[in-house]
Amino acid sequence: MKMILMALLALIIFVSPLDNGVGLTPPMGWNSWNKFGCMINEKLIMSTIDTIVSSGLAEAGYTYVNIDDCWQKSRDENGKIQPNPNSFPNGMKVMADYAHSKGLKFGLYSDAGYSTCCNLPGSLGYEEIDAKTYEEWGIDYLKYDNCNSDGSSPKIRYPVMRDALLKINRTIYYSMCEWGIEEPAKWGKEVANSWRNTGDIEDNWNSMLNIIDSNNYWAEYAGPGGWNDPDMLEVGNGGMTYEEYKVHFGLWSLVKAPLLIGCDITNMSEETFKILSNEEVIAVNQDPLGVQGKKLDSVDGKEVWGGPLANDSFVLMLLNRGESPADIEANFEKLGIKKGDYVVRDLWEKKDIGVFSESFKESVEPHSGILIKLSPK
Ligand code: GLA
Repeated sequence: MKMILMALLALIIFVSPLDNGVGLTPPMGWNSWNKFGCMINEKLIMSTIDTIVSSGLAEAGYTYVNIDDCWQKSRDENGKIQPNPNSFPNGMKVMADYAHSKGLKFGLYSDAGYSTCCNLPGSLGYEEIDAKTYEEWGIDYLKYDNCNSDGSSPKIRYPVMRDALLKINRTIYYSMCEWGIEEPAKWGKEVANSWRNTGDIEDNWNSMLNIIDSNNYWAEYAGPGGWNDPDMLEVGNGGMTYEEYKVHFGLWSLVKAPLLIGCDITNMSEETFKILSNEEVIAVNQDPLGVQGKKLDSVDGKEVWGGPLANDSFVLMLLNRGESPADIEANFEKLGIKKGDYVVRDLWEKKDIGVFSESFKESVEPHSGILIKLSPK
């Protein structure tokens, strides 16, 4: 009897989700890596913070300003991590305070290994001391990478930082980045608020689609507090067309991915801003139901992606991956959409198209997608 009780207790502890109260909808913000790599400094971060607010992106929901790899330099004699004095002469507390003074949140990057992917000090063996430092600096988000480890399983190393973060007097969104090597969707919810399922995104159509396909495999594991992470956004970095970036942003929204802008927002085009700030597409991502949309139908590069939203609504993308225009049809019954009359709204055009009850069919240009919301009439 005692054995059974112990086993039951162990099971409850093992499967209990990381209940730190953040990430109830996917996080939204900006990260330095995709555009700037290691070319980061205080001035860039401060002007990014200024621009998030002045451009209207903060109002659209982007709150985290996250510095990726290369802010660190060394550890002092007590093991405390030190920012690079050339690029961040005033230190990270000043950065975090600045973000907070503008109503934003501030994130950092570290690594569950001896050193980061850019060979700077990692957190392995320093988890508690680093977590305390994050508390002292006022950090709100931690991306935790997987380079240069001791070879042990991420299942062993990532919970150590989780536990260190749970001990401090601050709530930190915990983003696990072990690139999908040990199927993190299966165990991520107990450890982190999101988990990467793939290697790094590149700023081109094929990379973006490959990543979202791999991520799709794990759809059922996502939900409020624990999300699949198909990597950060490339919108605005120049490697895709306007229509391709709309597909990229639309897919990331409907699969409830973290929406972390990865371009130089201090220099973004009107088109980039238009994509990133579309409040109706963002609302799909932030929908309170928190159900990850999926690939529902696929024939010769003609695909339908979608999923349920709150209030008996539904989001759908008719996606043409091919090289010529194609008619794509969403048959509601086949897709598992409850019978009824739906007002169909084009989310990019922000226009109602009409009332449909059985199916919706449209000609879709190559390398583009039509993103619609179905609301019960
Ligand atoms: C890994 C991660 C990237 C980025 C770099 C930084 O490749 O997957 O997202 O953080 O490291 O070095």
